[in-house]
Amino acid sequence: MKAEDFILKNYNSSVESGSVKWESPSNIALIKYWGKKENQIPENPSISFTLSNCKTITKLTYTKKETKDFSFDVYFEGEQNEAFKPKIQTFFERIEAYVPFLREYHFKIETSNTFPHSSGIASSASGMSALALCLMSIERSLSVVEVTDKAFYQKASFLARLGSGSACRSIEGELVVWGQNESTESSDLYGIKFEGEVHSNFNNYQDTILLVDKGEKQVSSTVGHKLMFGHPFAQQRFAQAHDNLAKLKAVLASGDLQGFVKIVESEALTLHAMMMTSMPYFILMKPNTLEIINKIWKYREENNSNVCFTLDAGANVHVLYPENEKESVLKFINNELADYCQNGHFITDFVGNGAQLIEN
Ligand code: PMV
Repeated sequence: MKAEDFILKNYNSSVESGSVKWESPSNIALIKYWGKKENQIPENPSISFTLSNCKTITKLTYTKKETKDFSFDVYFEGEQNEAFKPKIQTFFERIEAYVPFLREYHFKIETSNTFPHSSGIASSASGMSALALCLMSIERSLSVVEVTDKAFYQKASFLARLGSGSACRSIEGELVVWGQNESTESSDLYGIKFEGEVHSNFNNYQDTILLVDKGEKQVSSTVGHKLMFGHPFAQQRFAQAHDNLAKLKAVLASGDLQGFVKIVESEALTLHAMMMTSMPYFILMKPNTLEIINKIWKYREENNSNVCFTLDAGANVHVLYPENEKESVLKFINNELADYCQNGHFITDFVGNGAQLIEN
């Protein structure tokens, strides 16, 4: 598929109004996307677990209008929200060529998250994917030709990518690959459900998110990705992501949990190493992030456990572990890690199947 193939050509302009509602999950990358080219094209492939509990729920109501500008109102958790508007305006500008009916309707966007707003959990992946799916449901009802499920999800991921890169991995589950590579079916334009073999060790994999720092992100991902331009280690890093994806594919098939731990933790630390070695440089971990990492390593060693961590571009820690360790690891988190979280706050989650239509 090329980008031009996603342009909606023939549609029925007589539809006056309607509404649609989707819920869409967050995702956590195992191989990290860090660095992009123009038009949200990733510099390297990534793969993520789709989550279950951390979701955005978005209702989109559309009403035909006469004027030819973009027109929308945003409500976040029931209240009108101006702060989200510039991001959505940019999103509309980026996708308008593919969704030509955008200027024909006024949109009321009502959105909320299942996780607390100021938790330091980025809502851009779940938020942009939910909005992209709502627009695709409208496209499906306007389209004069049948839109297959495959085409629907592919274009939803394509649009979500233009909102926030990693959002393209939040449409389906349980593992989604984005970015051209030699090991899996893939595209730079949209995420694809990972269809390789996955050992039962990875069924219902658990992710407990430790909220170390609930504040605003110190470095926005827009700024972060730009740090990879001219970065002295960029090319090696991009090549490493390809290698790690090939290795992870083998690990997923064989169920080698120790191999999984090594790749996933190395990816997280490499992401942070890239930020520490860019110009300007940043340290996004907090002292408690390091305390938690050391505790996890000690626990793993002493208990013959397969628990491991990964990080986003921030201080919070995602604790990943197999379902059969759920009871023991949750006890460990409660007893030894919760004290390092702001107000003792953490969120338990696990791998999920992707977005769901709530109302059409
Ligand atoms: O989707 P963005 O532009 O917010 O970038 C997300 C980048 C990381 O979360 C750090 C890694 C990833 O692959 O999700």
